[in-house]
Amino acid sequence: MNFSVRYELYRGFFERALTEKCERMDLSPQILAESMQYSLLSGGKRIRPILFLSTLDALGADYARETDLAVAIECIHTYSLIHDDLPAMDNDDYRRGRLSNHKMFGEGNAVLAGDGLLSYAFDLLLREGMRGKDHLLAALELSSAAGVQGMVAGQSADLGSEGCGTDEERLYFIHENKTARMIAAPLAMAGILAHGDTDALRAFGRELGHLFQITDDILDVIGVGMGKTLGKDDEEGKLTAVKVYGMRGAERAADECAARCEDLLQTLSFDPSFLAGVVGLVRKRNR
Ligand code: IPE
Ligand code: IPE
Ligand code: MG
Ligand code: MG
Ligand code: MG
Repeated sequence: MNFSVRYELYRGFFERALTEKCERMDLSPQILAESMQYSLLSGGKRIRPILFLSTLDALGADYARETDLAVAIECIHTYSLIHDDLPAMDNDDYRRGRLSNHKMFGEGNAVLAGDGLLSYAFDLLLREGMRGKDHLLAALELSSAAGVQGMVAGQSADLGSEGCGTDEERLYFIHENKTARMIAAPLAMAGILAHGDTDALRAFGRELGHLFQITDDILDVIGVGMGKTLGKDDEEGKLTAVKVYGMRGAERAADECAARCEDLLQTLSFDPSFLAGVVGLVRKRNR
């Protein structure tokens, strides 16, 4: 089966699980349900849950038993996007091809939609953690990637980087924490649950995460049809790969990162062809 067919199969599986979960949430007030689901069901690439599910599959585990963890991963990611777009952060009016959450529901509701998704994710993680030690460790992997020594720290450094020069070490810290940790976690979680390759998967995921953010920085300048406002990084004076290395340098850094990803794939004990496809997709992506 070729890569895009497989990607779409995992994506279809995940979308159905997510929609079903939303239907069962039974939230009130209505605006809380609407604002959470508006962002959650607005069709992102779903790359993080797909990395999780496909790696479980590749390691021979029954990925259909782990959909709640996949949903938790996407809930945390989506909350981070809602907050990232707020006027107090990146001040972005568009996300995933439509108005950003605060443009649609107002800032207060957008803050709460993010809070709701984050706390709902922890509800899922704790419930799954009760299944046993492996699930607890997988939950911990995600919570530490999302938290103050992970994505939140990266977002804090990103916010503090506005108008702050071209420090390469700081750029690495930002990319590592705001993006790479949340891409590595789903891979390591799959390793933990399927008892295989956890450290190697985490190492590969970090490199894939750096590649992902370098290409995100490039696409902020040259992308089309991204579903989010372009040129935001320059407008806000962000520290990005393009700012530090220039456009050609950033493209080169992305190629080097992709090559390191491919090398790391060779350290895995299973057929890495799907993950190799993801590396290609991230390097060549246009959204
Ligand atoms: C955007 O993530 C935020 C970054 C970490 C760059 P994605 O590009 O995965 O966004 P969606 O989920 O596909 O919308
Ligand atoms: C966002 O990075 C990373 C997180 C949401 C954690 P960006 O600010 O570069 O993401 P986009 O470009 O708005 O999607
Ligand atoms: Mg940002
Ligand atoms: Mg942003
Ligand atoms: Mg960006």
